[in-house]
Amino acid sequence: MAYTRITAAEAAALIKNDDNIGMSGFTPAGTAKAVTRELAKKAEAEHTAGRPFQVGIFTGASTGQSTDGVMSIAQAIKYRAPYTTNGDFRKSVNAGEIAYNDLHLSHMAQELRYGFYGDIDWAIIEVCDIEEVGDKIRCYLTAAGGISPTVVRLAKKGVILELNSFHNPNAKFIHDVYEPLDPPYRKPIPIENVGDRIGTPYIEFDASRLTGVVECNLPDEARAFKDSDPITDQIGNNVAEFLIADMNRGIIPPTFLPLQSGVGSTANAILGALAQNKQVPDFNVYTEVIQDSVVDMLLTGRVKDASACSLTVSNECLMQIYDNMDYCRKHLTLRQSEISNSPEVIRRLGVIAINTAIEVDLYGNANSTHISGTKMMNGIGGSGDFERNAFLSIFTCPSTAKNGMISSIVPFCSHLDHTEHDVNIIATEQGVADLRGKSPYERAQAIIENCAHPDYKQLLWDYLKIAKMGQTRHNLPAAFAMHDTLARKGDMHLTDYAEYVK
Ligand code: COA
Repeated sequence: MAYTRITAAEAAALIKNDDNIGMSGFTPAGTAKAVTRELAKKAEAEHTAGRPFQVGIFTGASTGQSTDGVMSIAQAIKYRAPYTTNGDFRKSVNAGEIAYNDLHLSHMAQELRYGFYGDIDWAIIEVCDIEEVGDKIRCYLTAAGGISPTVVRLAKKGVILELNSFHNPNAKFIHDVYEPLDPPYRKPIPIENVGDRIGTPYIEFDASRLTGVVECNLPDEARAFKDSDPITDQIGNNVAEFLIADMNRGIIPPTFLPLQSGVGSTANAILGALAQNKQVPDFNVYTEVIQDSVVDMLLTGRVKDASACSLTVSNECLMQIYDNMDYCRKHLTLRQSEISNSPEVIRRLGVIAINTAIEVDLYGNANSTHISGTKMMNGIGGSGDFERNAFLSIFTCPSTAKNGMISSIVPFCSHLDHTEHDVNIIATEQGVADLRGKSPYERAQAIIENCAHPDYKQLLWDYLKIAKMGQTRHNLPAAFAMHDTLARKGDMHLTDYAEYVK
């Protein structure tokens, strides 16, 4: 093949202070990881020499330690969007060292195209195969769709491909690459079934724009999730029983509807409980992130078709997919984040969305992102894309956090990501509150009765008693009394609201 091979260090040397980099990947899956490690070293060397060196990073969602981690430690990131889960990055963001723009994941690619963020200088894309066809390059993505076609097209200075032999070239068979036109020329996205393919398996661009190919062999850096525990198992059972009851009374059709679930042990518990129930027919998954449990169900046929943006799976599971490609290519599709998370498609398919919140309030508002209203946890991710547009929008959370010191049900959320208008169901290990069709006061009653931990129930009922009459009853000086008590005493258990109600 005639393309130019370059080392990761040579690629990093081309990138200048203040450049904006668009990267492949969505979660650590499919993220380029060779050049960014060298960029972190370059930043350290430049800083030691007294010169500034920081770049902007745009991705599908989180990256792994090889990008957000090492680059945050090296103070090499000036600006970053959208979601990330990296602990080192989180520390830098909450210390005010990185400008972090947390937005709905479906918005990222189109807002880059709209020009909201200025120019993209470089695209760094992890690929499993490259073909030259005339004066064009066709490159094949690895474990995620992300925002890759958009950043490849927008990159002004060039495209750097990381050809990572860790990934089997068979990965190409599960990709459906599609980039919508922008308004006023946008067309409907023609996905009518979870498994529909509407694009090409590759990204194509002019060979003249290829800066070079970095050959590497680097494993994906998918996160290890916490094991399930009795609380997450109970939440899973509660949600599964609720959905089965909704199916039995004819609200969810007997064919069932496609599921979206967040990542982590609660999502695993919900899918596991649904899969085990014989009343639930084999179902489809239309989601942003596929984890190991979905792959197991896909290979046994319990999940019929799965569509996502990324394979956030263990490396063993990834190899299992590559080894079963004849089956997976028919039943598994990876898409760009603006398609996997498209409001239009989610609404058309009638997706049941299930995501985890940090806290929810008495009226059904949910906070997915900020601890105590100020500290960023990860970001909104795709939760808003799915919850806002779902057939049924469900939020789960344990009723308490930090060994019971914190109630996840509070009078008023300390930060708002999802408003009362976008939340149908709240589920904790205590039970399920069905908010559909209820007035704010009825919602508050249902949430306290069914979801709050017994240690906090009386405190929440007491809040309703001191709340001022209105459509949405609040006592604003006391609305954050539980949070204030936590900040002052390390525990949300306040005795009463007397000191807050003058
Ligand atoms: N106050 C303070 N800390 C809280 C809290 C609260 N009300 N609720 C949770 N936490 C802490 C937990 O104690 C835990 O801390 P630790 O890491 O020190 O153990 C941490 O937040 C994560 O909570 P956990 O209960 O382990 O749940 P999780 O791993 O499922 O994460 C979210 C929960 C909300 C942070 C996570 O789901 C998320 O980032 N969501 C937004 C993105 C999203 O929904 N994406 C769509 C699907 S991929």
